[in-house]
Amino acid sequence: MGNFLGKTISKLAGIDLSDRFGAEWDSFSTLGVMVRMGIWMVRGMLVRWRFGAAKGLFLIGKDVTIRQASYIIAGKNFIAQDHCEINGLSQKGLVFGDKVTIGSYAIIRPTNLYGGEAGVGLKVGNNSSIGPYAYIGCSGYIEIGDNVMMSPRVSIYSENHNFSETTMPMIEQGVTRSFVKIEDDCWLAANSVILAGVTVGKGSVVAAGSIVTKDVPPYSIVAGNPAKIIKSRK
Ligand SMILES: CC(C)(COP(=O)(O)OP(=O)(O)OC[C@H]1O[C@@H](n2cnc3c(N)ncnc32)[C@H](O)[C@@H]1OP(=O)(O)O)[C@@H](O)C(=O)NCCC(=O)NCCS
Repeated sequence: MGNFLGKTISKLAGIDLSDRFGAEWDSFSTLGVMVRMGIWMVRGMLVRWRFGAAKGLFLIGKDVTIRQASYIIAGKNFIAQDHCEINGLSQKGLVFGDKVTIGSYAIIRPTNLYGGEAGVGLKVGNNSSIGPYAYIGCSGYIEIGDNVMMSPRVSIYSENHNFSETTMPMIEQGVTRSFVKIEDDCWLAANSVILAGVTVGKGSVVAAGSIVTKDVPPYSIVAGNPAKIIKSRK
């Protein structure tokens, strides 16, 4: 039933929504999702004009905070789930590819909310998701490839506080920003933390709870704190 309704709506809307409804879902559940998507679509229509660009389907959940939206470019089929916070102000802006989802309560923050130098920004490829409760600190540049999955509570940091001086408070010593790259087809599992300057190579899995301090070669599975290679997928 879900599949049938999904396909019918996709035909009517001219947008492929078929994978949004499970084939075995009961009609009430499917209808519930459709109604919710309708409400999110209306909310999206009300705010999309504020964005630098927004294409196609554009769904905005309940209590979503979007600041400096003119710095944000969203591809087709963009979803910002309930309660997420997306701050646009940054040197390169935030660029989302097609079919990107930002999970509930996720925070994307390139720049300190109370002043200081603008952060660099974020690029997310097609068909990638930022999971619920994520923290994406893109004050240094963060680039996330295509088909990247993030489980809940992933954090990515592209900045460290300087602390070499002991004669002055660390808060006055500034920060060092470093580029972070998550290449295509990676899975960052729940509660993993990716630190500044790291590249996670194509096709890699970062196991739950890992702290990634060094580059991860393509097709690796890494785990632990600090994260070490436990297997290769090839
Ligand atoms: C990495 C993972 C996918 C398992 O991969 P796997 O190839 O099946 O790995 P195995 O279970 O064979 O474990 C291999 C070794 O790594 C260790 N290991 C696995 N996951 C680990 C983790 N998250 N942290 C630390 N060590 C871990 C295992 O204990 C095992 O160690 P051993 O060889 O000393 O016994 C899984 O452990 C994991 O982290 N899943 C994430 C779950 C998640 O976030 N789900 C959300 C979905 S949205």
